[in-house]
Amino acid sequence: MMVVIENALSAGDVAEIRAELDRAAWEDGAGTVRGAGRARKVNHQLKDGAEPALSLGERIIQQLWVNPLFISAALPRKIYPPRFNRYGEGETYGAHVDAALMRAARSGEMVRTDLSITVFLTDPADYDGGELEVEGNFGAQAVKLAAGDAVLYPANSLHRVTPVTRGTRFASFFWIESLVQDLGERTLLFELDQTIQRLTAELGPDHDELPNLQAVYHNLLRRWVAT
Ligand code: NI
Repeated sequence: MMVVIENALSAGDVAEIRAELDRAAWEDGAGTVRGAGRARKVNHQLKDGAEPALSLGERIIQQLWVNPLFISAALPRKIYPPRFNRYGEGETYGAHVDAALMRAARSGEMVRTDLSITVFLTDPADYDGGELEVEGNFGAQAVKLAAGDAVLYPANSLHRVTPVTRGTRFASFFWIESLVQDLGERTLLFELDQTIQRLTAELGPDHDELPNLQAVYHNLLRRWVAT
């Protein structure tokens, strides 16, 4: 299940984050990869667990915790401190799966990576290539979103970033440990919740059957949530 969150960040947030990224010091992104995958990763990243990544990341997380679509789709328990990457011309990241467990650089906290998220920080008109391609049940899906939009996808998916052929692509990416570990269960809860939201809008919040549907949602969540 891939979920696009439009306007996860406001235009003002994007502009301020981009201004910081433009003057930040960037490191070779291959430094974060151990072993055989290194050659596949040709990009740049901000240093993890240090400024400006920490405060920029905090700013993104604050927006996501109050985003109903994000909460409904991810049911987050923990969010890994956001990372930031930059792909210039010719830079790319070949097919890979993200590690199942990630330790936050500063707190040392371990996060099980159930979902991955990419927050796009560059206007698509400003670069060519640089699509995020995610393998799913129905083949690879290419994603390239407006600055401020985000995409959530299962962290067990093979994915790649195609080579940038013009311009520079900035993004933030990180992981979420969900209260509901199983993807199938999480997908059912998301679809049920979204249907309840649409029905509530259509029928009005006082329709007699809505409490029954809401009870089904919460009782499934109670059954499936890991404590
Ligand atoms: Ni990845």
